[in-house]
Amino acid sequence: MAKSQLLTTQHLSSVEAFISSACTVFRTFPDQDSGCVSYGVQADGERLFVKAAHTARTVASLQRALAVHEVVKHPRLIPIVHGFTTDDGLCLVYPWVDGEVLYHPTRSQRGGRARPDAPLARFRRLPVGEILAAVAVILDVHLAVSDAGLVAVDFYDGCTFYDFEAGSMRLCDLDEYRPGPFILEADRLPGSIRYMAPEAFRRGAVIDERTTVFSLGRALRLLLDGGDEEGHWRGTEGQLAVVRKATASEPSDRYQTVRDLVQAWEAAG
Ligand SMILES: Nc1ncnc2c1ncn2[C@@H]1O[C@H](COP(=O)(O)OP(=O)(O)O)[C@@H](O)[C@H]1O
Ligand SMILES: [Mg+2]
Repeated sequence: MAKSQLLTTQHLSSVEAFISSACTVFRTFPDQDSGCVSYGVQADGERLFVKAAHTARTVASLQRALAVHEVVKHPRLIPIVHGFTTDDGLCLVYPWVDGEVLYHPTRSQRGGRARPDAPLARFRRLPVGEILAAVAVILDVHLAVSDAGLVAVDFYDGCTFYDFEAGSMRLCDLDEYRPGPFILEADRLPGSIRYMAPEAFRRGAVIDERTTVFSLGRALRLLLDGGDEEGHWRGTEGQLAVVRKATASEPSDRYQTVRDLVQAWEAAG
């Protein structure tokens, strides 16, 4: 009953009131940077991830997420299974997936990527073959992203969701991705500095697929390194050359499309 309601309702006055009375809430994410509040809930034996927006800004971000999922379908992008309005906002429902994001900053706690027990540090200790399989998933999802005419915004290791037991990579939280190219009309895009291209800090700059290429190049660089300082590259020289080209300062010096990057990466492997 509770499950079918979460998966079909068009409106609930309060998602919090509903899940606390009709479901078991086994996890809460109350302190996310985004301002959204998410819940792991069990409803009629099924686990769901419920993401709620209660402000104009967070509602806009979940609306963007809906638009992204409308055009990007990929088995490794954690899907939105339903969305409904609430008296003060919008709520999206996803399947609950086992695993964790490689980096999980919150409003009260950030950093710690290099802590030995941090998910990213554990990931970096995996055999190279497993890392390569995981980054191949990241690239493949972004082929679907670019085929859909979207540009990656705010892509970072907080979107890479890894199940260490199953050895499987998925992506979540592509809520800021937008149709591109577009002109940056602010001083910068949202995002994690270590994944951001120079043009993402330039008002008036063109943001396009080459901006996505840069962020993907940074993901390759950072995920295939043994540490957090970029001093222990674990790939080949050929793969490092691909990363360098993908992350060139000038967009015109990079691979011009995600597909070109992926082809070069596969050829280097
Ligand atoms: N479908 C899911 N199943 C289980 N946990 C998830 C799922 N989606 C996200 N998470 C976890 O919840 C956290 C917050 O989700 P996210 O979509 O990143 O929210 P926000 O945009 O508010 O940061 C993620 O860092 C991840 O650990
Ligand atoms: Mg997030």
